[in-house]
Amino acid sequence: MSGPISIREVAAQAGVSVGTVSNVLNRPDIVARPTLDRVHAAIKELGFVRNESARQLRAGRSRMIGLVVLDVANPFFTDVARGVEDEASKSGLAVILCNSDDQLPKETAYLELLEEHRVQGILITPVADDERRLAELQQRGTPVILVDSSSPSGSQCSVAVDDVLGGDVAVSHLLASGHHDIAYVGGPLNLRQATGRRDGAIRALRRAGGSADDLLMLETAALNVSAGQRAGATIAEMPARQRPTAAFCANDLIALGLLQEMTRRRFRVPDDVAIVGYDDIEFAAAAAVPLSSVRQPRQQIGRTAAQLLLEEALGTDAHQHRQVIFQPELEIRRSSQGPPRAAQRPRRQPAIALSAETAG
Ligand code: RIB
Repeated sequence: MSGPISIREVAAQAGVSVGTVSNVLNRPDIVARPTLDRVHAAIKELGFVRNESARQLRAGRSRMIGLVVLDVANPFFTDVARGVEDEASKSGLAVILCNSDDQLPKETAYLELLEEHRVQGILITPVADDERRLAELQQRGTPVILVDSSSPSGSQCSVAVDDVLGGDVAVSHLLASGHHDIAYVGGPLNLRQATGRRDGAIRALRRAGGSADDLLMLETAALNVSAGQRAGATIAEMPARQRPTAAFCANDLIALGLLQEMTRRRFRVPDDVAIVGYDDIEFAAAAAVPLSSVRQPRQQIGRTAAQLLLEEALGTDAHQHRQVIFQPELEIRRSSQGPPRAAQRPRRQPAIALSAETAG
């Protein structure tokens, strides 16, 4: 039994856009008679019942919500946006997708634009942990929901995965596979996601009797493929005795870039270097060497964030800000399966100045 008929299904049946159906429902005076008739016929045929909560969304506001993401080229956010749109369209709302490129000035400009357009609310993966800016937006009447982030003060709702646990399960898996020389590849470390995953990796090392010093930190300037390729070049050019046998990457784009560069340089994954990513985007399983990755329920994160926004936009007094935290799951694939070849090599020595002829 499928759920209630959505506004999207009515639009498809009538051969019009979701926005046209929304106009038929809310501003029929601006819709041509033939279109009105087609949409009403579709509503009748499908048995569409208007979502009353949508009607109660505050008047004087546009029928749109804003979604501000760090990197629109990252499939993680594409999947999150899909979940947001699925939920928003059930209430006849459109989604304005804004790409901050992890740059505060761009994010600020988009927040001002969205406020000017009087959106019903804003979903955002913020560039920086500055809740004051977002709290001011809320005080002026625009609900703000944090996506893939959390609100330590509880002044906004948020939806995320437990990134510390995610880093912990990733490195615990590598330790259990016999790896001791593990690199963490990720950054910039102003991103809460990158630091949370790193902290989880360190927690796993400490539980195994090690320390933070046992983790080779390769901080990247961004969480994208080219940063992963650069990290691959760094690892490949290390003297063999210093090279890690495994790398935990802050997201799948880094991991795929690392995988690409290491294999281009004739290193074997996982035999020479095991790799674990984060997000479990669709390309992870489809990679040349299927990538192990910490799965984030991306569309569910989007749907949940949109539900929280609609609940807050309804302005019911019952709404209480809450932090929704999903549990990460490790998907183990070929890129991290099998014992390290390092068993045949002594543990990595502290970094030392190597002359060219002794480099591994
Ligand atoms: O935006 C950077 C990363 O943080 C994404 O890949 C995803 O992992 C998010 O949590």
